[in-house]
Amino acid sequence: MKYLIGNLKMNLLSPDDVRQYLTVLERETRGHLLEGVEYVLCPASIHFGLMQGKMPSPIKLGGQDMFWEKEGSYTGEISPIMLKQYGAEYVILGHSERRLYFGETNDIVRRKIDMALKQMLRPIVCIGETSDERSAGKTGAVIEEAIRSIFDGFSRMQAEKIIIAYEPRWAIGTDTTPETADIMEVKILIRRVLSQMFDLKTADRVPVLYGGSVKQALLPRVCIEAGMDGVLVGRESLFPYEMTKMAEMLSQSGAEEDNKQEE
Ligand code: PGA
Repeated sequence: MKYLIGNLKMNLLSPDDVRQYLTVLERETRGHLLEGVEYVLCPASIHFGLMQGKMPSPIKLGGQDMFWEKEGSYTGEISPIMLKQYGAEYVILGHSERRLYFGETNDIVRRKIDMALKQMLRPIVCIGETSDERSAGKTGAVIEEAIRSIFDGFSRMQAEKIIIAYEPRWAIGTDTTPETADIMEVKILIRRVLSQMFDLKTADRVPVLYGGSVKQALLPRVCIEAGMDGVLVGRESLFPYEMTKMAEMLSQSGAEEDNKQEE
């Protein structure tokens, strides 16, 4: 299974914008076989009412964030139950913009993951180094620390429900991306740490996606050749045509991998 996750961020500013987006999405998705691809769009929470039940099949809905409690006096926050009730199956957690502007730490992210899992939402957890950490040669240490704190205390069954998105912070919104070999190295590191914490089978079952300036032309480099399980797409997710193309490329690469495994 390959994952194509679109993070629409704080875009589509009016109900008309959302309706127009849905019309284009429907037009650009219809008739395309997206076998073996889990295609998820994550709109701003206020758009859920407009989008629920209007997504062309097989596209699913996800949240961009949620709170770690179910309900109560938490002004401005979104409950995981609200997300679920409005049709979400996934939720992005620990996005670097949440970490940067709202001070989210791995600890906070860990609490949110716990609540998401309890509410049967699949968390897509973002991790990644800053450009300073990268220049100081600390990428490996940052990733290992994040993985250890995110997965700490979860059972194997819970761990397998978590999706990791490796998003180098310097690659988000910048049109710069790491080399294929660097992405691959991070995936191998994540597998190694997870197999130490759990076992090899569990480590193999945790999908690891790439995110940061993803677009169609870069997909082979940042995902397919790097052996990643899919991508988390920001700006390009506003263009349904591009997303369909990427879904098709992922579907094809998944089918080729399956064939290789059968040989
Ligand atoms: P970008 O954003 O694709 O616009 O770089 C990626 C993300 O924030 O997940």
